[in-house]
Amino acid sequence: MSFLTIVLTILIIFPYTAHGEQNPLQRYWERPIPFQNTKFPLYPDACGECHKDQHENWKDSLHSRAVGPGLLGQLGKDFKSVPTNPESSMSCYFCHAPMTEQAEVKTGAMGKGQGASNYIKNQSFDNRLKLSGVSCSVCHLRKGKVYGPQKREVRSQKSEVRNKRQNAHDGFIEKAFFEKAEFCAACHQLDEGYELNGKVLTNTYREWKESIYGKNNVTCQNCHMPDRQHLWRGIHNPEMVKKGITIDAVREGKKAKIVITNTGVGHYFPTYTTPIVVVKGYMQDNNGSAIPESVKVRYIGRRVSLDLSNEFFDTRISPQGKFEFTYEIKKLYNKNKSVFEVWVYPDDFYNRFYKELLKGDDKNLNRKEIEEALKITEESGYQLFRENL
Ligand code: HEC
Ligand code: HEC
Ligand code: HEC
Ligand code: HEC
Ligand code: HEC
Repeated sequence: MSFLTIVLTILIIFPYTAHGEQNPLQRYWERPIPFQNTKFPLYPDACGECHKDQHENWKDSLHSRAVGPGLLGQLGKDFKSVPTNPESSMSCYFCHAPMTEQAEVKTGAMGKGQGASNYIKNQSFDNRLKLSGVSCSVCHLRKGKVYGPQKREVRSQKSEVRNKRQNAHDGFIEKAFFEKAEFCAACHQLDEGYELNGKVLTNTYREWKESIYGKNNVTCQNCHMPDRQHLWRGIHNPEMVKKGITIDAVREGKKAKIVITNTGVGHYFPTYTTPIVVVKGYMQDNNGSAIPESVKVRYIGRRVSLDLSNEFFDTRISPQGKFEFTYEIKKLYNKNKSVFEVWVYPDDFYNRFYKELLKGDDKNLNRKEIEEALKITEESGYQLFRENL
Protein backbone atom coordinates (compact mmCIF):
# COMPACT_ATOMS: atom_id res chain seq x y z
CA MET A 1 0.00 0.00 0.00
CA SER A 2 1.23 3.45 -0.80
CA PHE A 3 1.41 6.08 1.86
CA LEU A 4 -1.65 7.75 0.36
CA THR A 5 -3.71 4.56 0.25
CA ILE A 6 -3.09 4.05 3.95
CA VAL A 7 -4.44 7.47 4.76
CA LEU A 8 -7.42 7.04 2.46
CA THR A 9 -8.23 3.70 4.07
CA ILE A 10 -8.04 5.05 7.59
CA LEU A 11 -10.50 7.72 6.65
CA ILE A 12 -13.25 5.35 5.53
CA ILE A 13 -15.80 6.90 7.67
CA PHE A 14 -18.06 6.38 10.61
CA PRO A 15 -20.03 9.57 10.69
CA TYR A 16 -22.08 11.14 13.41
CA THR A 17 -25.49 9.55 13.58
CA ALA A 18 -28.33 11.19 15.38
CA HIS A 19 -29.70 8.28 17.36
CA GLY A 20 -33.20 6.89 17.08
CA GLU A 21 -34.62 5.35 13.94
CA GLN A 22 -37.27 7.98 13.68
CA ASN A 23 -34.77 10.78 13.75
CA PRO A 24 -35.61 12.94 10.74
CA LEU A 25 -32.12 14.40 10.53
CA GLN A 26 -30.59 10.98 10.17
CA ARG A 27 -32.85 10.28 7.21
CA TYR A 28 -32.19 13.73 5.78
CA TRP A 29 -28.46 13.07 5.79
CA GLU A 30 -28.60 9.59 4.32
CA ARG A 31 -25.75 9.44 1.80
CA PRO A 32 -25.25 9.45 -1.07
CA ILE A 33 -28.18 11.86 -1.19
CA PRO A 34 -30.71 10.18 -3.54
CA PHE A 35 -31.15 11.30 -7.15
CA GLN A 36 -33.19 14.53 -7.22
CA ASN A 37 -35.05 14.33 -10.53
CA THR A 38 -35.99 18.01 -10.72
CA LYS A 39 -37.19 20.12 -13.63
CA PHE A 40 -35.14 23.09 -12.43
CA PRO A 41 -31.34 23.26 -12.42
CA LEU A 42 -29.48 22.33 -9.23
CA TYR A 43 -26.43 24.50 -9.83
CA PRO A 44 -25.68 27.15 -7.20
CA ASP A 45 -25.59 29.99 -9.72
CA ALA A 46 -29.12 29.04 -10.79
CA CYS A 47 -30.32 29.32 -7.17
CA GLY A 48 -28.34 32.56 -6.99
CA GLU A 49 -30.56 34.23 -9.59
CA CYS A 50 -33.14 34.67 -6.86
CA HIS A 51 -31.12 34.08 -3.68
CA LYS A 52 -28.34 36.52 -4.45
CA ASP A 53 -26.93 37.12 -0.94
CA GLN A 54 -26.73 33.44 -0.08
CA HIS A 55 -25.00 32.74 -3.37
CA GLU A 56 -22.42 35.51 -2.99
CA ASN A 57 -21.54 34.57 0.55
CA TRP A 58 -21.45 30.87 -0.21
CA LYS A 59 -19.08 31.49 -3.12
CA ASP A 60 -16.61 33.14 -0.74
CA SER A 61 -16.88 30.26 1.74
CA LEU A 62 -14.87 27.06 1.81
CA HIS A 63 -18.03 25.02 1.28
CA SER A 64 -17.93 26.17 -2.35
CA ARG A 65 -14.36 24.92 -2.65
CA ALA A 66 -14.89 21.50 -1.10
CA VAL A 67 -14.03 19.85 -4.42
CA GLY A 68 -10.77 21.65 -5.02
CA PRO A 69 -7.30 20.65 -6.16
CA GLY A 70 -6.43 19.11 -2.78
CA LEU A 71 -9.21 16.58 -3.08
CA LEU A 72 -9.03 16.03 -6.84
CA GLY A 73 -5.27 15.53 -6.76
CA GLN A 74 -5.52 12.76 -4.21
CA LEU A 75 -8.20 10.89 -6.08
CA GLY A 76 -5.81 10.04 -8.86
CA LYS A 77 -4.87 10.83 -12.42
CA ASP A 78 -6.97 8.29 -14.27
CA PHE A 79 -10.13 9.46 -12.67
CA LYS A 80 -12.58 9.15 -15.54
CA SER A 81 -15.89 7.32 -15.49
CA VAL A 82 -14.90 4.76 -12.89
CA PRO A 83 -12.28 5.82 -10.38
CA THR A 84 -9.32 3.57 -9.60
CA ASN A 85 -10.37 3.30 -6.01
CA PRO A 86 -14.11 4.00 -5.88
CA GLU A 87 -14.47 3.00 -2.27
CA SER A 88 -12.13 5.63 -0.91
CA SER A 89 -13.40 8.25 -3.36
CA MET A 90 -16.93 7.65 -2.13
CA SER A 91 -15.75 7.96 1.45
CA CYS A 92 -14.42 11.43 0.66
CA TYR A 93 -17.53 12.43 -1.31
CA PHE A 94 -19.53 11.64 1.81
CA CYS A 95 -18.69 15.14 3.07
CA HIS A 96 -17.13 16.89 0.07
CA ALA A 97 -19.70 16.03 -2.66
CA PRO A 98 -22.48 13.89 -1.18
CA MET A 99 -25.17 13.98 -3.89
CA THR A 100 -25.73 10.98 -6.16
CA GLU A 101 -25.30 13.32 -9.14
CA GLN A 102 -21.85 14.33 -7.85
CA ALA A 103 -20.28 10.87 -8.05
CA GLU A 104 -18.91 9.10 -11.12
CA VAL A 105 -20.05 5.77 -9.70
CA LYS A 106 -22.80 4.24 -7.65
CA THR A 107 -23.15 0.91 -5.92
CA GLY A 108 -24.21 -1.82 -8.30
CA ALA A 109 -26.81 -4.53 -8.00
CA MET A 110 -24.77 -6.35 -5.41
CA GLY A 111 -25.39 -3.51 -3.00
CA LYS A 112 -23.01 -2.18 -0.45
CA GLY A 113 -19.94 -4.27 0.10
CA GLN A 114 -16.23 -4.35 -0.27
CA GLY A 115 -14.15 -3.55 -3.27
CA ALA A 116 -14.30 -1.83 -6.63
CA SER A 117 -16.38 -4.54 -8.28
CA ASN A 118 -19.41 -3.30 -6.38
CA TYR A 119 -19.43 -0.01 -8.23
CA ILE A 120 -20.91 0.77 -11.61
CA LYS A 121 -20.93 3.87 -13.78
CA ASN A 122 -23.49 6.43 -12.63
CA GLN A 123 -25.62 7.69 -15.56
CA SER A 124 -26.77 10.77 -13.63
CA PHE A 125 -23.20 11.96 -12.94
CA ASP A 126 -22.82 15.71 -13.49
CA ASN A 127 -19.27 17.01 -13.35
CA ARG A 128 -20.31 20.64 -12.98
CA LEU A 129 -22.40 19.77 -9.95
CA LYS A 130 -19.55 17.73 -8.51
CA LEU A 131 -17.20 20.69 -8.77
CA SER A 132 -19.68 22.87 -6.87
CA GLY A 133 -18.84 20.88 -3.72
CA VAL A 134 -21.01 21.51 -0.67
CA SER A 135 -23.53 23.61 -2.55
CA CYS A 136 -27.12 24.77 -2.02
CA SER A 137 -28.67 21.52 -3.19
CA VAL A 138 -26.55 19.43 -0.81
CA CYS A 139 -28.12 21.16 2.18
CA HIS A 140 -31.52 22.21 0.81
CA LEU A 141 -32.81 19.64 -1.68
CA ARG A 142 -34.19 16.17 -1.17
CA LYS A 143 -35.99 14.22 -3.91
CA GLY A 144 -36.53 17.41 -5.86
CA LYS A 145 -38.14 19.34 -2.99
CA VAL A 146 -36.66 22.40 -1.34
CA TYR A 147 -36.24 22.35 2.45
CA GLY A 148 -35.38 25.34 4.58
CA PRO A 149 -35.64 26.82 8.06
CA GLN A 150 -38.90 28.23 9.33
CA LYS A 151 -39.92 31.27 7.37
CA ARG A 152 -38.94 34.56 8.94
CA GLU A 153 -41.39 37.19 9.97
CA VAL A 154 -42.32 38.81 6.67
CA ARG A 155 -41.11 42.15 7.99
CA SER A 156 -37.52 41.03 8.26
CA GLN A 157 -37.44 38.94 5.12
CA LYS A 158 -35.14 40.14 2.40
CA SER A 159 -37.38 42.18 0.12
CA GLU A 160 -35.51 40.98 -2.90
CA VAL A 161 -36.78 37.43 -2.47
CA ARG A 162 -40.17 38.45 -1.15
CA ASN A 163 -40.87 40.43 -4.28
CA LYS A 164 -40.11 37.56 -6.57
CA ARG A 165 -43.54 36.35 -7.52
CA GLN A 166 -42.19 33.48 -9.39
CA ASN A 167 -40.82 30.64 -7.37
CA ALA A 168 -38.64 28.23 -9.30
CA HIS A 169 -39.30 25.40 -6.93
CA ASP A 170 -42.94 25.53 -5.89
CA GLY A 171 -42.59 26.59 -2.27
CA PHE A 172 -40.53 24.83 0.33
CA ILE A 173 -40.82 22.56 3.33
CA GLU A 174 -40.01 24.09 6.71
CA LYS A 175 -37.78 22.12 9.05
CA ALA A 176 -36.71 23.28 12.48
CA PHE A 177 -33.52 21.20 12.25
CA PHE A 178 -31.91 23.77 9.97
CA GLU A 179 -31.28 25.79 13.10
CA LYS A 180 -29.76 22.94 15.10
CA ALA A 181 -26.10 22.10 15.59
CA GLU A 182 -26.88 18.48 14.66
CA PHE A 183 -27.46 19.65 11.09
CA CYS A 184 -23.75 20.52 10.82
CA ALA A 185 -22.62 17.43 12.73
CA ALA A 186 -23.47 15.38 9.63
CA CYS A 187 -20.07 16.43 8.26
CA HIS A 188 -18.28 17.99 11.24
CA GLN A 189 -18.30 14.99 13.56
CA LEU A 190 -16.89 11.48 13.24
CA ASP A 191 -18.07 9.25 16.04
CA GLU A 192 -16.45 5.90 15.57
CA GLY A 193 -13.66 4.44 13.58
CA TYR A 194 -10.12 5.66 13.56
CA GLU A 195 -8.86 6.97 16.88
CA LEU A 196 -5.50 8.47 17.63
CA ASN A 197 -4.42 8.67 21.25
CA GLY A 198 -7.97 7.75 22.24
CA LYS A 199 -9.55 10.59 20.30
CA VAL A 200 -11.38 10.65 16.98
CA LEU A 201 -10.03 12.95 14.28
CA THR A 202 -13.09 15.18 13.93
CA ASN A 203 -14.95 15.96 17.12
CA THR A 204 -16.33 19.46 16.65
CA TYR A 205 -19.94 18.70 17.48
CA ARG A 206 -19.12 16.86 20.73
CA GLU A 207 -16.68 19.59 21.78
CA TRP A 208 -19.47 22.08 21.24
CA LYS A 209 -22.07 19.93 23.04
CA GLU A 210 -19.95 19.81 26.20
CA SER A 211 -19.16 23.52 26.17
CA ILE A 212 -21.20 26.34 27.66
CA TYR A 213 -22.40 27.04 24.13
CA GLY A 214 -23.84 23.56 23.75
CA LYS A 215 -25.41 23.81 27.18
CA ASN A 216 -27.00 27.16 26.39
CA ASN A 217 -27.92 26.23 22.85
CA VAL A 218 -25.72 28.81 21.17
CA THR A 219 -25.55 26.88 17.91
CA CYS A 220 -22.96 26.57 15.14
CA GLN A 221 -25.32 28.67 13.00
CA ASN A 222 -25.39 31.48 15.62
CA CYS A 223 -21.64 32.00 15.18
CA HIS A 224 -21.00 30.79 11.64
CA MET A 225 -24.22 31.96 9.94
CA PRO A 226 -25.18 35.12 11.88
CA ASP A 227 -28.60 36.39 10.80
CA ARG A 228 -28.75 33.33 8.52
CA GLN A 229 -25.90 34.64 6.37
CA HIS A 230 -24.09 31.90 4.44
CA LEU A 231 -20.63 32.94 5.61
CA TRP A 232 -19.10 29.94 7.40
CA ARG A 233 -15.97 31.83 8.35
CA GLY A 234 -13.48 29.88 10.40
CA ILE A 235 -9.76 29.59 10.99
CA HIS A 236 -8.92 30.92 7.52
CA ASN A 237 -10.37 34.29 8.46
CA PRO A 238 -8.33 36.50 10.85
CA GLU A 239 -11.33 38.61 11.90
CA MET A 240 -13.30 35.50 12.83
CA VAL A 241 -10.40 34.12 14.85
CA LYS A 242 -9.96 37.47 16.65
CA LYS A 243 -13.60 37.30 17.69
CA GLY A 244 -13.01 33.91 19.24
CA ILE A 245 -9.97 34.51 21.42
CA THR A 246 -8.51 37.10 23.78
CA ILE A 247 -4.78 37.75 23.85
CA ASP A 248 -3.00 39.45 26.76
CA ALA A 249 0.71 40.14 26.76
CA VAL A 250 2.58 41.70 29.70
CA ARG A 251 6.16 42.24 30.81
CA GLU A 252 7.09 42.22 34.46
CA GLY A 253 10.75 42.43 35.36
CA LYS A 254 12.58 39.36 34.09
CA LYS A 255 9.51 37.83 32.57
CA ALA A 256 7.25 38.44 29.63
CA LYS A 257 4.03 36.53 29.48
CA ILE A 258 1.36 35.90 26.88
CA VAL A 259 -2.02 34.44 27.73
CA ILE A 260 -4.43 33.32 25.03
CA THR A 261 -7.93 32.59 26.25
CA ASN A 262 -10.63 30.85 24.26
CA THR A 263 -13.37 33.37 25.02
CA GLY A 264 -15.61 32.88 22.01
CA VAL A 265 -14.88 29.72 20.07
CA GLY A 266 -17.68 27.18 20.48
CA HIS A 267 -15.26 24.24 20.45
CA TYR A 268 -11.50 23.69 20.80
CA PHE A 269 -9.29 26.36 19.30
CA PRO A 270 -8.56 25.06 16.75
CA THR A 271 -10.91 22.11 16.43
CA TYR A 272 -9.13 20.12 13.71
CA THR A 273 -5.72 18.51 13.35
CA THR A 274 -5.02 20.57 10.25
CA PRO A 275 -4.18 24.08 11.54
CA ILE A 276 -1.27 25.07 13.72
CA VAL A 277 -0.94 28.28 15.70
CA VAL A 278 2.63 29.39 16.33
CA VAL A 279 3.41 31.63 19.31
CA LYS A 280 6.83 33.29 19.14
CA GLY A 281 8.62 35.18 21.87
CA TYR A 282 11.89 36.97 21.21
CA MET A 283 14.05 40.01 22.02
CA GLN A 284 14.62 42.86 19.60
CA ASP A 285 17.98 44.42 18.82
CA ASN A 286 18.39 48.19 18.46
CA ASN A 287 17.43 48.07 14.79
CA GLY A 288 14.16 46.40 15.59
CA SER A 289 15.20 42.96 14.31
CA ALA A 290 14.78 39.70 16.19
CA ILE A 291 17.89 38.46 17.99
CA PRO A 292 18.10 34.94 16.56
CA GLU A 293 19.41 33.26 19.75
CA SER A 294 16.52 34.68 21.75
CA VAL A 295 13.66 33.20 19.73
CA LYS A 296 11.43 30.73 21.55
CA VAL A 297 8.45 29.03 19.96
CA ARG A 298 5.31 27.34 21.31
CA TYR A 299 2.53 25.66 19.37
CA ILE A 300 -1.24 25.54 19.77
CA GLY A 301 -2.83 22.69 17.87
CA ARG A 302 -3.10 18.97 17.58
CA ARG A 303 -0.14 17.87 15.55
CA VAL A 304 -0.27 14.42 14.01
CA SER A 305 2.08 12.50 11.75
CA LEU A 306 1.29 12.39 8.04
CA ASP A 307 0.23 8.74 8.14
CA LEU A 308 -2.00 9.56 11.13
CA SER A 309 -0.28 6.91 13.27
CA ASN A 310 1.18 9.33 15.79
CA GLU A 311 0.03 12.30 17.81
CA PHE A 312 2.99 14.53 18.63
CA PHE A 313 1.09 16.90 20.89
CA ASP A 314 -2.36 18.28 21.57
CA THR A 315 -2.26 21.78 23.00
CA ARG A 316 -5.58 23.01 21.62
CA ILE A 317 -7.47 25.37 23.92
CA SER A 318 -10.83 24.11 25.16
CA PRO A 319 -13.77 26.52 25.35
CA GLN A 320 -13.02 28.92 28.24
CA GLY A 321 -9.56 27.39 28.53
CA LYS A 322 -6.23 29.23 28.55
CA PHE A 323 -2.84 28.87 26.96
CA GLU A 324 0.11 30.49 28.78
CA PHE A 325 3.66 31.05 27.71
CA THR A 326 6.15 32.71 30.02
CA TYR A 327 9.25 34.04 28.35
CA GLU A 328 12.24 34.37 30.69
CA ILE A 329 14.31 37.40 29.75
CA LYS A 330 18.05 36.92 30.02
CA LYS A 331 19.98 39.65 31.91
CA LEU A 332 21.95 40.34 28.77
CA TYR A 333 18.76 41.55 27.05
CA ASN A 334 17.35 43.56 29.95
CA LYS A 335 17.42 46.80 28.01
CA ASN A 336 15.90 45.34 24.83
CA LYS A 337 12.27 45.21 23.88
CA SER A 338 10.60 41.83 24.05
CA VAL A 339 8.13 40.84 21.38
CA PHE A 340 5.33 38.31 21.07
CA GLU A 341 3.93 37.24 17.71
CA VAL A 342 1.08 34.86 16.96
CA TRP A 343 0.89 33.25 13.53
CA VAL A 344 -1.92 31.08 12.19
CA TYR A 345 -1.32 28.37 9.56
CA PRO A 346 -4.82 27.03 8.76
CA ASP A 347 -3.57 24.33 6.37
CA ASP A 348 -0.39 23.18 8.09
CA PHE A 349 -1.16 19.46 7.94
CA TYR A 350 -2.01 19.57 4.24
CA ASN A 351 1.06 21.65 3.53
CA ARG A 352 3.30 18.96 5.00
CA PHE A 353 1.19 16.23 3.40
CA TYR A 354 1.37 17.64 -0.15
CA LYS A 355 5.13 18.19 0.08
CA GLU A 356 5.55 14.55 1.04
CA LEU A 357 3.23 13.33 -1.74
CA LEU A 358 5.21 15.29 -4.33
CA LYS A 359 8.49 13.75 -3.11
CA GLY A 360 7.19 10.25 -3.80
CA ASP A 361 6.81 8.60 -7.19
CA ASP A 362 3.17 7.50 -7.03
CA LYS A 363 2.23 7.24 -10.72
CA ASN A 364 -1.46 7.62 -10.06
CA LEU A 365 -0.99 10.94 -8.26
CA ASN A 366 -2.34 13.98 -10.09
CA ARG A 367 0.73 16.17 -9.64
CA LYS A 368 -0.66 19.24 -11.31
CA GLU A 369 -3.58 19.42 -8.87
CA ILE A 370 -1.39 18.69 -5.85
CA GLU A 371 1.06 21.41 -6.86
CA GLU A 372 -1.85 23.84 -7.10
CA ALA A 373 -3.14 22.68 -3.71
CA LEU A 374 0.32 23.07 -2.18
CA LYS A 375 0.41 26.66 -3.38
CA ILE A 376 -2.90 27.40 -1.65
CA THR A 377 -1.59 25.97 1.62
CA GLU A 378 1.63 28.00 1.29
CA GLU A 379 -0.35 31.22 1.06
CA SER A 380 -3.04 30.79 3.69
CA GLY A 381 -0.90 31.60 6.76
CA TYR A 382 -1.14 35.00 8.44
CA GLN A 383 0.06 37.00 11.41
CA LEU A 384 -2.72 37.34 13.96
CA PHE A 385 -0.98 39.36 16.65
CA ARG A 386 2.23 41.24 17.43
CA GLU A 387 3.17 43.29 20.46
CA ASN A 388 6.35 45.02 21.64
CA LEU A 389 6.85 45.13 25.38
C1 HEC B 1 -36.99 32.03 -9.70
C2 HEC B 1 -36.56 32.36 -8.36
C3 HEC B 1 -35.99 31.23 -7.48
C4 HEC B 1 -35.02 30.30 -7.79
C5 HEC B 1 -34.27 30.10 -9.11
C6 HEC B 1 -34.79 29.54 -6.58
N1 HEC B 1 -35.60 30.00 -5.58
FE1 HEC B 1 -35.61 29.38 -3.66
N2 HEC B 1 -37.16 30.61 -3.22
C7 HEC B 1 -37.73 31.52 -4.09
C8 HEC B 1 -38.81 32.22 -3.42
C9 HEC B 1 -39.68 33.29 -4.04
C10 HEC B 1 -38.88 31.67 -2.11
C11 HEC B 1 -39.89 32.03 -1.01
C12 HEC B 1 -40.97 31.01 -1.09
C13 HEC B 1 -42.04 31.18 -0.05
O1 HEC B 1 -41.90 32.03 0.82
O2 HEC B 1 -42.98 30.37 -0.10
C14 HEC B 1 -37.82 30.69 -2.00
C15 HEC B 1 -37.54 29.97 -0.87
C16 HEC B 1 -36.40 29.16 -0.71
C17 HEC B 1 -35.97 28.57 0.53
C18 HEC B 1 -36.65 28.68 1.87
C19 HEC B 1 -36.29 29.96 2.59
C20 HEC B 1 -36.80 29.97 4.01
O3 HEC B 1 -37.34 31.00 4.44
O4 HEC B 1 -36.62 28.96 4.70
C21 HEC B 1 -34.84 27.87 0.27
C22 HEC B 1 -34.01 27.08 1.26
C23 HEC B 1 -34.58 28.01 -1.14
N3 HEC B 1 -35.55 28.80 -1.70
C24 HEC B 1 -33.51 27.39 -1.79
C25 HEC B 1 -33.34 27.42 -3.16
C26 HEC B 1 -32.36 26.63 -3.85
C27 HEC B 1 -31.39 25.65 -3.17
C28 HEC B 1 -32.45 26.92 -5.17
C29 HEC B 1 -31.67 26.31 -6.31
C30 HEC B 1 -31.78 24.86 -6.48
C31 HEC B 1 -33.51 27.92 -5.31
N4 HEC B 1 -34.02 28.18 -4.08
C32 HEC B 1 -33.88 28.49 -6.51
C33 HEC B 1 -37.30 31.75 -5.39
C34 HEC B 1 -36.35 31.03 -6.08
C1 HEC C 1 -22.22 18.00 3.44
C2 HEC C 1 -21.17 18.21 4.42
C3 HEC C 1 -21.12 19.48 5.22
C4 HEC C 1 -22.14 20.06 5.96
C5 HEC C 1 -23.58 19.60 6.10
C6 HEC C 1 -21.56 21.20 6.62
N1 HEC C 1 -20.24 21.32 6.28
FE1 HEC C 1 -18.96 22.78 6.89
N2 HEC C 1 -17.49 22.00 5.69
C7 HEC C 1 -17.59 20.83 4.97
C8 HEC C 1 -16.35 20.61 4.24
C9 HEC C 1 -16.04 19.43 3.33
C10 HEC C 1 -15.51 21.71 4.53
C11 HEC C 1 -14.10 21.96 4.02
C12 HEC C 1 -14.14 22.53 2.67
C13 HEC C 1 -12.73 22.68 2.10
O1 HEC C 1 -11.96 23.47 2.64
O2 HEC C 1 -12.44 21.98 1.13
C14 HEC C 1 -16.27 22.57 5.46
C15 HEC C 1 -15.80 23.78 5.98
C16 HEC C 1 -16.45 24.52 6.96
C17 HEC C 1 -15.94 25.70 7.59
C18 HEC C 1 -14.65 26.43 7.24
C19 HEC C 1 -13.52 25.99 8.10
C20 HEC C 1 -12.24 26.74 7.91
O3 HEC C 1 -11.22 26.05 7.91
O4 HEC C 1 -12.20 27.95 7.80
C21 HEC C 1 -16.84 26.10 8.54
C22 HEC C 1 -16.74 27.27 9.48
C23 HEC C 1 -17.96 25.18 8.46
N3 HEC C 1 -17.69 24.23 7.49
C24 HEC C 1 -19.09 25.26 9.25
C25 HEC C 1 -20.26 24.53 9.02
C26 HEC C 1 -21.51 24.77 9.70
C27 HEC C 1 -21.75 25.80 10.77
C28 HEC C 1 -22.40 23.86 9.19
C29 HEC C 1 -23.88 23.70 9.54
C30 HEC C 1 -24.75 24.83 9.22
C31 HEC C 1 -21.71 23.07 8.19
N4 HEC C 1 -20.42 23.52 8.12
C32 HEC C 1 -22.28 22.04 7.46
C33 HEC C 1 -18.68 19.99 4.91
C34 HEC C 1 -19.93 20.28 5.44
C1 HEC D 1 -16.66 13.60 7.89
C2 HEC D 1 -16.55 14.50 6.77
C3 HEC D 1 -15.31 14.41 5.88
C4 HEC D 1 -14.84 13.32 5.21
C5 HEC D 1 -15.41 11.91 5.19
C6 HEC D 1 -13.67 13.77 4.47
N1 HEC D 1 -13.46 15.11 4.71
FE1 HEC D 1 -11.98 16.24 3.90
N2 HEC D 1 -12.57 17.81 5.06
C7 HEC D 1 -13.66 17.82 5.89
C8 HEC D 1 -13.71 19.09 6.60
C9 HEC D 1 -14.77 19.50 7.61
C10 HEC D 1 -12.59 19.83 6.17
C11 HEC D 1 -12.18 21.23 6.62
C12 HEC D 1 -11.40 21.17 7.89
C13 HEC D 1 -10.01 20.79 7.71
O1 HEC D 1 -9.28 21.50 7.03
O2 HEC D 1 -9.61 19.75 8.29
C14 HEC D 1 -11.90 19.00 5.18
C15 HEC D 1 -10.75 19.39 4.49
C16 HEC D 1 -10.14 18.63 3.51
C17 HEC D 1 -9.05 19.11 2.67
C18 HEC D 1 -8.38 20.46 2.77
C19 HEC D 1 -9.13 21.51 2.08
C20 HEC D 1 -9.09 21.38 0.60
O3 HEC D 1 -10.19 21.27 0.01
O4 HEC D 1 -7.99 21.36 0.01
C21 HEC D 1 -8.73 18.08 1.81
C22 HEC D 1 -7.66 18.06 0.74
C23 HEC D 1 -9.59 16.96 2.13
N3 HEC D 1 -10.45 17.34 3.16
C24 HEC D 1 -9.57 15.74 1.50
C25 HEC D 1 -10.34 14.65 1.87
C26 HEC D 1 -10.16 13.31 1.32
C27 HEC D 1 -9.13 12.92 0.27
C28 HEC D 1 -11.09 12.52 1.93
C29 HEC D 1 -11.34 11.04 1.74
C30 HEC D 1 -10.24 10.18 2.09
C31 HEC D 1 -11.84 13.36 2.86
N4 HEC D 1 -11.35 14.64 2.80
C32 HEC D 1 -12.90 12.94 3.65
C33 HEC D 1 -14.59 16.82 6.03
C34 HEC D 1 -14.44 15.54 5.56
C1 HEC E 1 -23.82 23.66 4.50
C2 HEC E 1 -25.28 23.75 4.31
C3 HEC E 1 -25.86 24.87 3.48
C4 HEC E 1 -25.50 25.26 2.21
C5 HEC E 1 -24.36 24.75 1.37
C6 HEC E 1 -26.44 26.29 1.83
N1 HEC E 1 -27.31 26.52 2.85
FE1 HEC E 1 -28.90 27.79 2.81
N2 HEC E 1 -29.23 27.46 4.79
C7 HEC E 1 -28.55 26.52 5.56
C8 HEC E 1 -28.99 26.62 6.92
C9 HEC E 1 -28.47 25.77 8.08
C10 HEC E 1 -29.96 27.66 6.97
C11 HEC E 1 -30.69 28.17 8.22
C12 HEC E 1 -29.77 29.04 9.04
C13 HEC E 1 -30.43 29.56 10.28
O1 HEC E 1 -31.65 29.55 10.37
O2 HEC E 1 -29.70 29.99 11.18
C14 HEC E 1 -30.11 28.14 5.60
C15 HEC E 1 -31.00 29.13 5.18
C16 HEC E 1 -31.24 29.45 3.85
C17 HEC E 1 -32.29 30.34 3.37
C18 HEC E 1 -33.26 31.09 4.24
C19 HEC E 1 -32.62 32.44 4.51
C20 HEC E 1 -33.43 33.42 5.33
O3 HEC E 1 -32.92 34.55 5.42
O4 HEC E 1 -34.47 33.08 5.88
C21 HEC E 1 -32.18 30.39 2.01
C22 HEC E 1 -33.06 31.20 1.04
C23 HEC E 1 -31.07 29.56 1.62
N3 HEC E 1 -30.52 29.01 2.77
C24 HEC E 1 -30.61 29.38 0.33
C25 HEC E 1 -29.38 28.84 -0.01
C26 HEC E 1 -28.75 28.94 -1.30
C27 HEC E 1 -29.32 29.65 -2.50
C28 HEC E 1 -27.55 28.29 -1.21
C29 HEC E 1 -26.45 28.18 -2.25
C30 HEC E 1 -25.93 29.40 -2.83
C31 HEC E 1 -27.46 27.74 0.13
N4 HEC E 1 -28.57 28.11 0.84
C32 HEC E 1 -26.42 26.94 0.62
C33 HEC E 1 -27.60 25.62 5.11
C34 HEC E 1 -26.99 25.67 3.88
C1 HEC F 1 -19.53 30.66 20.07
C2 HEC F 1 -19.23 30.73 18.65
C3 HEC F 1 -19.01 29.42 17.91
C4 HEC F 1 -19.80 28.28 17.92
C5 HEC F 1 -21.04 28.02 18.76
C6 HEC F 1 -19.21 27.37 16.97
N1 HEC F 1 -18.09 27.93 16.42
FE1 HEC F 1 -16.91 27.09 14.98
N2 HEC F 1 -15.59 28.63 15.15
C7 HEC F 1 -15.80 29.78 15.90
C8 HEC F 1 -14.65 30.65 15.77
C9 HEC F 1 -14.47 32.00 16.43
C10 HEC F 1 -13.74 29.98 14.92
C11 HEC F 1 -12.34 30.47 14.49
C12 HEC F 1 -11.30 29.96 15.47
C13 HEC F 1 -11.01 28.49 15.29
O1 HEC F 1 -10.64 28.10 14.20
O2 HEC F 1 -11.14 27.72 16.27
C14 HEC F 1 -14.37 28.72 14.54
C15 HEC F 1 -13.82 27.77 13.69
C16 HEC F 1 -14.51 26.69 13.15
C17 HEC F 1 -14.01 25.81 12.11
C18 HEC F 1 -12.64 25.94 11.46
C19 HEC F 1 -11.70 24.80 11.68
C20 HEC F 1 -10.84 24.80 12.91
O3 HEC F 1 -9.90 23.95 12.95
O4 HEC F 1 -11.01 25.60 13.87
C21 HEC F 1 -15.00 24.89 11.85
C22 HEC F 1 -14.97 23.77 10.83
C23 HEC F 1 -16.10 25.17 12.75
N3 HEC F 1 -15.76 26.27 13.52
C24 HEC F 1 -17.30 24.46 12.79
C25 HEC F 1 -18.25 24.61 13.83
C26 HEC F 1 -19.36 23.69 14.04
C27 HEC F 1 -19.68 22.49 13.18
C28 HEC F 1 -20.02 24.14 15.15
C29 HEC F 1 -21.20 23.52 15.86
C30 HEC F 1 -21.07 22.12 16.28
C31 HEC F 1 -19.34 25.35 15.60
N4 HEC F 1 -18.27 25.59 14.78
C32 HEC F 1 -19.73 26.13 16.68
C33 HEC F 1 -16.91 30.07 16.66
C34 HEC F 1 -17.93 29.17 16.96
